[in-house]
Amino acid sequence: MDEQKLGDVVQANVQSMLNQPRTTNYSAEPELPDGWKRKPPRGYESLSDDKINMDALEEIKRLYNEKLFPIYLYGPTGRGKSFLAARVHIAAPLWPRFESYGDFIEETIQASKGNGYAPWERLRELKGIFTVDEIGVGVPNDWKNEIMWKLLEVRRDKPLLLTGNLTPGELAKHFDARIASRIIAGSLVELDGVDQRSNWLNDKSEVERRFVKIGKKS
Ligand SMILES: Nc1ncnc2c1ncn2[C@@H]1O[C@H](COP(=O)(O)OP(=O)(O)OP(=O)(O)O)[C@@H](O)[C@H]1O
Ligand SMILES: [Mg+2]
Repeated sequence: MDEQKLGDVVQANVQSMLNQPRTTNYSAEPELPDGWKRKPPRGYESLSDDKINMDALEEIKRLYNEKLFPIYLYGPTGRGKSFLAARVHIAAPLWPRFESYGDFIEETIQASKGNGYAPWERLRELKGIFTVDEIGVGVPNDWKNEIMWKLLEVRRDKPLLLTGNLTPGELAKHFDARIASRIIAGSLVELDGVDQRSNWLNDKSEVERRFVKIGKKS
């Protein structure tokens, strides 16, 4: 094959490569049509709007529109943070992604061992909201911090929703100062109220149904 022809073949191959859809390119994510209701993330199928704190949902939508990222939703256990984040997922205008902190760390580690697709480029390009639920759960260590730091870097100024039990003041102690600073740089939503998991203890009929005492002396 002469040089000219070889050049043409190479050129054609390069062109066909460029024409192939890039799996990491999320810029073509379709906007959801009006009224389309997305399914909740796995594990949140029982999500009900009656139990959603609508004020908090509206505030999160406002912060999203004002691009105050990351949005950190925090508060004590059982207040409904994860369900609220799942509700945001349903309402998000672009294709979102939702992961628990544990799964996210695990997936990242597996990818770094070559057992999966490194999430960083996909995350950098993801246009929709990326939610990491329950950040800081478990014992902190250097590599978890490194993953958190990298997440905050690749999602800098991009839609990122984090939930957790740690107060803004506790973030630096649990992670480190640079991570805390990057989380606080966005916006903060504190969700308090009752612990919805143990609330039945205040309901007499539920206590009769659910509380069993054995071996009581008469
Ligand atoms: N919108 C909802 N629909 C149905 N159930 C809900 C809803 N919101 C909260 N709950 C109930 O309240 C419980 C606690 O809610 P959730 O798991 O969201 O709390 P959390 O603030 O994320 O708690 P933790 O900090 O322990 O993760 C849920 O297990 C669920 O039973
Ligand atoms: Mg939760």
